[in-house]
Amino acid sequence: MTRHIFVLTGAGVSAESGLGTFRDKAGEGIWAQFDPMKLATPEAFAHDPETVLAFYDARRRNLLSAAPNAAHTALARLEATLASAGGELSLVTQNIDDLHERAGSQRVIHMHGELLKARCLNCECVHLWPEDLPASESCPACRTGGLRPHIVWFGEMPFHKDEIEQALARADFFVAIGTSGAVYPAAGFAAEARALGIPTLEINLKAADNAVIFDAARYGPASVIVPAWVEEVTVGLGGKI
Ligand code: APR
Repeated sequence: MTRHIFVLTGAGVSAESGLGTFRDKAGEGIWAQFDPMKLATPEAFAHDPETVLAFYDARRRNLLSAAPNAAHTALARLEATLASAGGELSLVTQNIDDLHERAGSQRVIHMHGELLKARCLNCECVHLWPEDLPASESCPACRTGGLRPHIVWFGEMPFHKDEIEQALARADFFVAIGTSGAVYPAAGFAAEARALGIPTLEINLKAADNAVIFDAARYGPASVIVPAWVEEVTVGLGGKI
C-alpha cells in the first residue's frame, strides 16, 4: 500500500530559523508588535502603501539572511523517500518564506503566498522579487500596473484551494506542524481530515487552539520532533507498508 501524507506547516516550523511567529508568545509575536489591520489588509495597502511595503521589505531582508532548519530538511527527505516508495507528500504551507524549497522540497503549496514574489495590480503577473519593493515600482510585464507583495492578506481568499482539497481527499495521514490553529481555512483542515477518516497528528511547541481535533500530538521544538517523526515514517516505509 502506498502512502500519501498531507503535511500542513505554519510559522512554528520556521521559528528556529529566526523568522518570527505571529501569535504564540505573550507580547512577542509579530501581531503583538504590529497591527495586522494596518499592515496586512488590502485596505491598509490602498491607504498607506509605503508603510505596508516597508514592513514586508524588512521581513524579506530578514528571510534572505535566514536558513532552513532540521525540520525543513527532514520534510524534504520525507518527500523523496515517499516518492521512491511510490507514495506522495502534499506539503501545504501557510508560510510565505522559501525555507522549504531551500531545504530541497520539490513541491510546496503556498496557500498564503510568497514573500519573494510581487504581483501586478493591473495584469496580475507574478514576478520573482527578492529586493525591496518601492511603491513607485511598475510591473516589468505590462509597465502600467503598480506592484504589491504576492501575499494573501486578511480578508482575501487563500491560493490553491481546489488543489489543497483534492490533496486532502487523497491523503491517508494528516500532520499539522507549528501552527496555532487560529486562522481559517487552514485551521479547519484537521477537522476535514478527521471527517474523512484520516488519522491526524499535531506537532507543535504546545497545544494549538484546535488541539482537541487531533488523534495524537507530539510537543516540542520542530527541529527535534519532526526529524524523529520522519525517521519513524521512513523506517515504516522500509517495504512494510
Ligand atoms: N517548534 C514547533 N512549533 C513552534 C515553535 C517551534 N520552535 N515555535 C512556535 N511554535 C508554534 C506555536 O506554539 C504556535 O502554535 O507555532 C505556532 C505559531 O502560531 P502562529 O504564530 O499563529 O502562526 P500560524 O499558525 O502559522 O499563523 C497562521 O496567520 O497571521 C496569519 O497569514 C499568517 O500564515 C499566518 C497565519
